[in-house]
Amino acid sequence: MTKHKMAPTPAVAKEKKQINLLRGWPNPSLLPIPLISAASQTALSNPDISIPGLLYGPDPGYQPLREEISRWMGRFYSYSGTSGSQEEDPERICITGGASQNLACVLQVFSDPVKTRVWMVAPCYFLACRIFGDAGLRVGAVGEGSEGVDLEGLERRLIESEEEDRGKQLLKQPRPWSKIYRNIIYCVPTFSNPSGKTMTLSCRKKLVQIARKYDALIITDDVYDCLQWPTSPRSSTSSLSKAILPRMVDIDRTLEPAPGSDSFGNTMSNGSFSKIAGPGVRTGWAEATPKFVYGLSQCGSSRSGGAPSQLVATMMAELLRSRELERHIREVLNPAYEKRYGIMMSAIQEHLMPLGVRAGEVNADGKEIFGGYFLWIELPKEVSAEVVADRAKVEENLIVAPGYIFEVENDPSIKFQNSLRLCFSWVEEKNLEDGVKRLATVVRNVKEGVSPAQGEGLGKNGVKGEMGEFR
Ligand SMILES: Cc1ncc(COP(=O)(O)O)c(C=O)c1O
Repeated sequence: MTKHKMAPTPAVAKEKKQINLLRGWPNPSLLPIPLISAASQTALSNPDISIPGLLYGPDPGYQPLREEISRWMGRFYSYSGTSGSQEEDPERICITGGASQNLACVLQVFSDPVKTRVWMVAPCYFLACRIFGDAGLRVGAVGEGSEGVDLEGLERRLIESEEEDRGKQLLKQPRPWSKIYRNIIYCVPTFSNPSGKTMTLSCRKKLVQIARKYDALIITDDVYDCLQWPTSPRSSTSSLSKAILPRMVDIDRTLEPAPGSDSFGNTMSNGSFSKIAGPGVRTGWAEATPKFVYGLSQCGSSRSGGAPSQLVATMMAELLRSRELERHIREVLNPAYEKRYGIMMSAIQEHLMPLGVRAGEVNADGKEIFGGYFLWIELPKEVSAEVVADRAKVEENLIVAPGYIFEVENDPSIKFQNSLRLCFSWVEEKNLEDGVKRLATVVRNVKEGVSPAQGEGLGKNGVKGEMGEFR
């Protein structure tokens, strides 16, 4: 920080309307309420649907939804590329209570507190840290590197930990339907929360090879894959009804030597309706090999009563059957997020970049396509993101997410002291530019050494204490 100037201390900004660029929720105007209402009417007015919907269901979930999801995934990921086209197979799908709930179930079945280590790609989706902690697992951080994962760093840590854990015995009893992996690698390969980054195809393939070599399960939250738009007028929009890259689970399915029918595989994809229908739906799906999916469906909480979200699953099946959800994504969500992203990027270019702020890479493997909910920005070295977040709250009534909350808990090896995550999905569109302008005012004040206003900021515990709200 430069020396304090004799500039007036900024006022405490209680009278300004709050702008929250931290909260990773969809704006209420983007919720498909009429579509869900119609789907629920259809489901509830037909006893062939409503009766199974209101009773205990099968362990892997409501069968018509498994079928609809596998058809939809087939359409969306049917790129002609190195990993070939996607075949539909409902046996590869298990209905879940969303990505977070399913992560907990996967750990219950496929991890062991003594034997399994977790490697989170950092900056990480911080709310997953507690899910790993609840399962009693040891967690380490691995950087994103330039391609999405620092593969060398990961391999080094895998080798070191293998040495340390040699001879350790399983705490859990082995079960015939499950397998305990020695390692779990957790990442968000496409339009990541928080960095917005997309992992390259070559990195995805190498990561699958590493997972096979070191007995690792790659868990990917593929929850933003459908939300994508071009970042340049030159990019083709015709391809945007399809995924830009295969998921890790698609690569594992086809990369030679492809896993046989008796294999658990090395990948599990977490899909969710939270970002495309609404988080309150609390319904999602897991995709993996049929053997893995069967094992997951044998998780104690699913054996007792069937997969979660049975009633909502009947409604989601209707939404997919009618193709209304795909239309909503194509015609409502993607244009809306494209516009919001454009407003925020232009505001960053106009107000923050002149102060030395850098915004993240937007190209995915040479494709000028971006997606998801978040932009990740780097402040100049001398400007602390924690100080900026705190002062933004006090002086501008602006909430932003400082980089440290995306560090892997209990592994201080990778820090994000100069980074901020900005979310463009939640606030009203008309407030996006103002939010960035307010942020620029604070960054300038910090850079120029203007004394802080006294007031109640976010504070480390303040943010940590309320993280659940922010996603
Ligand atoms: C990467 C990531 N995973 C999981 C979730 C939560 O998903 P769900 O609502 O399906 O539990 C989020 C929500 O922000 C997310 O960003």
